[in-house]
Amino acid sequence: MGFLCNWCSYAGADLAGVSRFQYPTNIRVIRVMCSGRVDPTHVLEAFIRGIDGVMVLGCHPGDCHYILGNYYTEGRMKTLQRFLEIVGVKPERLLLDWVSASEGERFATLVSDFTDKITKIGSLRNDVPNNELQKRLLAARDVFSQHRTRWLINRERELLVEGDVFGEPVDQEEFNKVKFEALVKEYEKNRVLFSIRDKALSVGEIAQSAALTPREVLRHLILLEQNGLVTVSGIDGVKPMYKKMGV
Ligand code: FES
Repeated sequence: MGFLCNWCSYAGADLAGVSRFQYPTNIRVIRVMCSGRVDPTHVLEAFIRGIDGVMVLGCHPGDCHYILGNYYTEGRMKTLQRFLEIVGVKPERLLLDWVSASEGERFATLVSDFTDKITKIGSLRNDVPNNELQKRLLAARDVFSQHRTRWLINRERELLVEGDVFGEPVDQEEFNKVKFEALVKEYEKNRVLFSIRDKALSVGEIAQSAALTPREVLRHLILLEQNGLVTVSGIDGVKPMYKKMGV
C-alpha cells in the first residue's frame, strides 16, 4: 500500500504513468493531501488488514506544500518503525521516502525496489507466530490512538527545535528514551487488557498470553484496577481471576 501526498508523490506517480515507466501493479495507492496526514494508526490498520508493506511518500524536505508536514511525518514514521520491532514486525515493512512531481522514474524505482524487498521477506504473518499478530497489532494501534502518545510524538519536533517551556534545549537521545518507555508501558498495558477482554484469567495466564513476566502483569493490573478498567471476577482455588471491566 502506498500513501502518496497530493502535491508531489502523487504527481510523481502520475508522471511515471504518463512517461510509461514500468512498476509493479500490486501497489494500492491512497492519495492524501500531505504526507503529514498519514497517522501511525493508518499504517497499523493496513497491517491489521493484512497488507505486507506500506510506503509513505511525500515531498522532499523543505518542499512540503504545508511547510512542515513532511517533517512531522518523518518523526512519526521513524518512531513507528522502531516500535514495530517491539511488536515483532520487521521495520522494513514500512518505508518513508520522498518523491517530487518531476520524479516519475524515481517513483517507479522505489515501488519496484520496495515490492522486491517485501517479496523477499515474505508475508507479514511470518513475522509473528500463530494468531499473536492480530493481538499485537491491535494493542499497538491502541498505543498510537492514546492522547498521551499523540502528544509526545506530535510535540517532538517543537521540543527538539524550540526547547521546553523554559526555552531549554531538549536532548534527542533523552527524549527518545522517555518516549519509548512511555510507548512500551502503554503497549504492555494494552496487551494485558486484550488478554482479559473475552475471559477472566489469572496473573500467570495473563503473563503467558501477553508475553510479559507475572511481576510486570501485576504492576499493570494494580494500576488498571485503580483506574476502574479491570476487576477481579472470582477466585480459582487461590488465584484471583481478572477481567476487563464492561465485558
Ligand atoms: S504536501 Fe507533500 S509532504 Fe506535505
